[in-house]
Amino acid sequence: MGATVIVGLQFGDEGKGKITDFFAEKADLVARFNGGNNAGHTVVVGEKKFKFFLLPSGAAHKKKCCIGAGVALDPKTMLKEITGLGEKIDLVIDARAQIVMPWHNLLDLAIEQKKDSQKIGTTGRGIGPCYADRASRSGIRFLELVDEKRLQKKISENFGPNRLLLELVFGFSPGSDFSEKKIFEEYSELGKKLKSYCGDVSLETSNAINSGKKVLLEAAQGTFLDNDFGTYPFVTSSHPIAGAALTGIGLPAKAIEKIIGVAKAYTTRVGSGPFATELNNEIGSRIREKGMEFGTTTGRPRRVGWLDLVLLRTANRLNGTGEIVMTKIDVLSGIEELNICTEYLLEGKTIREVPADTEKISKCIPVYKKFPGFEISGKEKSFAELGKNARAYVEFVEKELKTRISVVSIGAERNQTILR
Ligand code: IMP
Repeated sequence: MGATVIVGLQFGDEGKGKITDFFAEKADLVARFNGGNNAGHTVVVGEKKFKFFLLPSGAAHKKKCCIGAGVALDPKTMLKEITGLGEKIDLVIDARAQIVMPWHNLLDLAIEQKKDSQKIGTTGRGIGPCYADRASRSGIRFLELVDEKRLQKKISENFGPNRLLLELVFGFSPGSDFSEKKIFEEYSELGKKLKSYCGDVSLETSNAINSGKKVLLEAAQGTFLDNDFGTYPFVTSSHPIAGAALTGIGLPAKAIEKIIGVAKAYTTRVGSGPFATELNNEIGSRIREKGMEFGTTTGRPRRVGWLDLVLLRTANRLNGTGEIVMTKIDVLSGIEELNICTEYLLEGKTIREVPADTEKISKCIPVYKKFPGFEISGKEKSFAELGKNARAYVEFVEKELKTRISVVSIGAERNQTILR
């Protein structure tokens, strides 16, 4: 038996948190493999609302949790999250995970501020600069954070060049708290508090899989924020697609058994970048309000649009999605007529897959198929109870994508999840 990977098929915020929590009930180990606290996963359990930024969503079920080498780890957020749980957590953080340092956060802001046009609209969590340091081999890893001597050396190597970069290149004043001494004091303390979680997630997950345990690998963000295959440059700096579960955890391809893709019944996007089916009108606002489409991490209003099968077709192919979970279909309830984008038109040609050139995507005109609206109360217990029109909406998507929609989510609660 291999691991199951859960990925987002759109621009993130598809509801992976809820769905990972749903599948985590029967899992033994849940691991995050990419991104950092730019992500925010919300899990609702009765009266309790968990907001996870770094911890995998399996934490709400008190399952063994792992944070893979591919994660950009902000130790302040990590500690806050562990403490916030209020109970002991069975957590392993890979020794190789890259640490988000204060200069990464400041550079993230400084780089965005400096741009006249083409601002990415990042979450400001230092993710891009942290991964840039990983690629240029100057990054600080978790194993160094928890070792005072090595941390001091790494901070002294990194502090000076980053201060110069901030002040001289970006004309950004980092403030009085930005001192090498203060950063070392704060981060060595964080290292001490997090040391007991340091381990080898690659080995932990391999061993778990080999001994027949159920392993879930959870992506942050969504397919079209992928650093290579997303709408570059309007992307994040990690790889939220299924293939990255292998490199983000340290597993061979044969370790993956199943890939579950999560897609909202409509589309949302935070930050800049092309969005063919965007609704800048009253229907868009209505979906935003009803769907509470405001970022978990930054509180920013999300851009909203119709469901886009060009995106999902490409996402399915990139991820090798075996089954789809459709979330938030209840949010569309009460809209008289719905649209699903089946393909794009670009300079008179039909486009069925997302083009590599982001500028071309911006010029694409969506082609829609109309669907009659439906009413979903959130109390339905079966697919049949959703009614003819909602079923037709789901079945059309399934048929177009040639992929089974195995679960339909009709609300934030665990019990508002319909298995087909
Ligand atoms: P960064 O990951 O903070 O560098 O932001 C890069 C782009 O990815 C921006 O458009 C963000 O809004 C977007 N982004 C990053 N994380 C998430 C997420 O968890 N959900 C949705 N969008 C995200």
